[in-house]
Amino acid sequence: MAKVLILGANSAIAREVANILASKGHTLYLASRNVERLRRFAQHLETKYGAEVFTGEFDATAYASHPLFFKKVLEEMGEVDWVLLAFGYLGDHERAVSDFSEARKILEINLMGAVSVLSVIAPYMEGRGRGVIAGISSIAGDRGRADNYVYGSAKGGLTVYLSGLRQRLFRKGVKVLTVKPGFVDTPMTSGLDLPKRLVSKPEKVAQDIVKAMERGKDVLHTPLYWWFIATAIRCIPEFVFKRMKFKR
Ligand SMILES: NC(=O)c1ccc[n+]([C@@H]2O[C@H](COP(=O)([O-])OP(=O)(O)OC[C@H]3O[C@@H](n4cnc5c(N)ncnc54)[C@H](OP(=O)(O)O)[C@@H]3O)[C@@H](O)[C@H]2O)c1
Repeated sequence: MAKVLILGANSAIAREVANILASKGHTLYLASRNVERLRRFAQHLETKYGAEVFTGEFDATAYASHPLFFKKVLEEMGEVDWVLLAFGYLGDHERAVSDFSEARKILEINLMGAVSVLSVIAPYMEGRGRGVIAGISSIAGDRGRADNYVYGSAKGGLTVYLSGLRQRLFRKGVKVLTVKPGFVDTPMTSGLDLPKRLVSKPEKVAQDIVKAMERGKDVLHTPLYWWFIATAIRCIPEFVFKRMKFKR
């Protein structure tokens, strides 16, 4: 059984991942900003599955707190086998294009927060010579689009960071998984006008994430059809792409 740390564990996708992992008997450490909500969820998992679940406060942008946070995780849970980075912030793109404070928030939560906490966790994993680090990036990080390029650039940065980390840790026995979901029906996307047929349920994305972590996969497009969409989008020449209009 693995000991799993989930960062941003209040996310709808993360909660579904936690459900699956708890049902399989893994030990969990749920961390996020809203600790009260985490505690209620942990109690639910303990009652339903008899799982061992720890909770703790984690803010991706409180960079200076990350070393102490991880020390506390290790003290409480003993060790960490798998890590899932699930925190994220879509933000208000229209505001972000002209208001740097919003753009900065998007970049800080999605990219800087991940880099900061991984600079503490990755050396620990490297030292142990085993384990899995999974980060939820996005299809949005594959190519800049007019209506989400600030969030897209943060996720693009995360995708590149995870790719480099994977190469670095490959020979050390540590697997690094980049998760690229398409549109998922969660609080992050509520109220957005998305093409309904392309919106998936967090339960499906969570199943794919758990399978990919168990198999030590490198990159996961979820659901799978996003691999075809992403590949097609990447192949469009820039002089055509700049003229195209996307529904999100
Ligand atoms: N939904 C989609 O269509 C979609 C598509 C592609 C990728 N993703 C990515 O998938 C991941 C999960 O997203 P979701 O859709 O499940 O989102 P969600 O349900 O809206 O949850 C996002 C979570 O991020 C946490 N968070 C935000 N800022 C944080 C910070 N500074 N420190 C720690 N936690 C923070 C929040 O935790 P608290 O409640 O504790 O504040 C919140 O519960 C994100 O990385 C997202 O970018 C989502």
